[in-house]
Order: sequence, then structure tokens, then C-alpha cells
Amino acid sequence: MDDLRQKYLSAIAAAGDEDALEVLRLAAVGKKGEISLKMRELGRMSPEERRKVGPKLNALKDEINAALAAKKAALADAALEERLAGEWLDVTLPGRPRPQGSVHPISQVTEEIIAIFADLGFAVAEGPQIETDWYNFDALNIPPHHPARQEFDTFYMHRDAGDERAPHVLRTHTSPVQIRAMEKHGAPIRVIAPGRVYRSDYDQTHTPMFHQVEGLAIDRDISMANLKWVLEEFCRAFFEVDEVELRFRASHFPFTEPSAEVDLRCSWQGGQLKVGEGDDWMEILGSGMVHPKVLQAAGVDPDAWQGFAFGLGIDRLAMLKYGIPDLRAFFDSDLRWLRHYGFGALQVPSLHGGLSG
Ligand code: DAH
Repeated sequence: MDDLRQKYLSAIAAAGDEDALEVLRLAAVGKKGEISLKMRELGRMSPEERRKVGPKLNALKDEINAALAAKKAALADAALEERLAGEWLDVTLPGRPRPQGSVHPISQVTEEIIAIFADLGFAVAEGPQIETDWYNFDALNIPPHHPARQEFDTFYMHRDAGDERAPHVLRTHTSPVQIRAMEKHGAPIRVIAPGRVYRSDYDQTHTPMFHQVEGLAIDRDISMANLKWVLEEFCRAFFEVDEVELRFRASHFPFTEPSAEVDLRCSWQGGQLKVGEGDDWMEILGSGMVHPKVLQAAGVDPDAWQGFAFGLGIDRLAMLKYGIPDLRAFFDSDLRWLRHYGFGALQVPSLHGGLSG
């Protein structure tokens, strides 16, 4: 019995894992284990012998079971210790920097413009970038062969040979959204429509794709005075200055009557733009009172409704506000440029939190 004790206790102490321990358990106290077999021999002993050997065998069995359980717990503790050591995590370490994108100045300025006009009660409308020539031209009082069609440097979509229908165009301005918005919502209506427009033009201040925002306000008695106030409010908020001065210059657009181009008083000091002071004027948009034919084309009764429209270039405003000299760089996707001029994802423009974030 001492040999058995010696043999199993030292083997249990030396066991490296739970599998080895299980093998030892079966060998010692399993159904056919050495100690179990010895216990079966008790039946063949005399009562005196049994009284002597029985308790000893039972004690040995208990001792081995206890040693097995203790070793099992020790192995589990060791495994946990090892895992804790291996998976140790220093939560005080600074996070690893991940590559981050930036918000493009055009997106940022578009959001700024939307925030300002939303505050003035304008909703956002959208239209497709591939337009029919009806929405892009006819409905805006630009019939076929009107000289204004030539001025636009339009991109035409392809038609199959023999298909005589007028081709679709890449919209040359956001003005077609005026028609779509009035068709959908009728009058009264107050919307802006920011988005991409296309013209076949390319130099330091022109790219074939650029961005405009259209404005449209139609009601019973909307006048040029309302247009002037809205544009002044917009410029004050956008350029973040207390005073602005606008100059309305008589102009001509087929879709407005009367029409005006609007200039902003400014100065350039050492390449820095100052808005609201100085002796320079900068053209920022086209505008006017919506032509009765345009209202009619959109299903709005021109005898009952009237209002103003305007269209301004977003890219130009972004260049001015953030001092970006070359328009073409906007669309080069040069990472250095994007990092320099881009905005952080959390710099969300709002009238209260500051427009530029
Ligand atoms: N659609 C014109 C353009 O792209 C801009 C414009 C002028 C829009 C006058 C208007 C407007 O709504 O009233 O050149």
C-alpha cells in the first residue's frame, strides 16, 4: 500500500496536464484501477484482515482522490495565470493612429450653405445630373436654337443612330431643379438645390464638373426686395462678417425677368480677401424674378404666384472663403492637398457652433 501511495502521489505531482491526470485517475481509482482491484480483494479476506486493511485502503483512495482534485485545481490555476500573462493589456497605452480621411472643402461649404438657408426656411431639393433637354433648357425658357444654348458648352449624351429624339445632357446648371421642385410640390415653395453641374470648359477657374446651388422662393407677393435681403443675410452668415454690401447689376437670363447679377464689395490685401470693405466688386451669382413662362412650364399659375431665383457657384465661394487659389486642384485627389484644405469629420458646420467648425 505504501508503494502504491508513493507511486501515485509522485506521478500525480508530476502530471503536466489534465489528460495525464485522467490517465492516472483511471489507473488508480478507475473501475479497473489498481486500488479498486485491491478493494475487491477485501471480499476474500478474513474479517480481521478486512478490518485492518479496509480502512487503510479507503484512506489511500481518499488521499489519491484528494491529490487528484488538488492537482487539477493547480493545473487550472496555472493555465489561467498563463493566459492572463499572455493576454495582458495595457489600457493606458495611447491608441494606434489610423489613417483618416478629411471632408472636402466643397462638401464642407455645401453643408455651410445648407445650414444658412435652412435657418432662412429653405428646404433642400435635388435633381438628376443627367437631364432631358426639356428640364435643362426648354422649361427654363431656352427653346431650341436659343443663343443661350450655345453659351453653355453642353455635354450631350449619346443616342443610337437613327434615334431622332433630342439627346439627354449633363445638366449645365442646377436651374432644372426649379422645375422639378415646382412640379412636385407646387407653390408656395422655398428650396435650394445644391449639386454637380457640367460644362466643357477647363482653365484655372473652370473645370468640366463644378458645383452650384440654386435658390427658389415662390409665393403670392415675393419681390426683388426679398431676394436682396435673403442674399445679404446669406453673405453675412457665410463670410462671417457683420456688414456686407451687394450690388445688383442688370443682366439677362432667359428664365428670369428682370434679371440681375450680384456683386459683393470686397478688397484684396496681400492676397487676403476681405468682404464688406474696399473698392473691389466680385461677381458671386445670377438671379432675378422667375419668368412667367418658367412658372407655367412647371405647372404653377403665373397670375397667382411669383418669386425669385438665384444660382451661385459653390466652388468659387469655397475658394474665396478658404483662400484656395486654383480650382483644378479641387478635383485632383492629391492627398497632400486634401489633408491641407480638408476638414475633420467632427467639424460640422452649424450657425450656432461656428460655420467653419
Ligand atoms: N443658371 C444660371 C447659370 O448657370 C445661373 C442663374 C442665373 C440661376 C439666374 C438662376 C437665376 O436661378 O435666376 O449660369
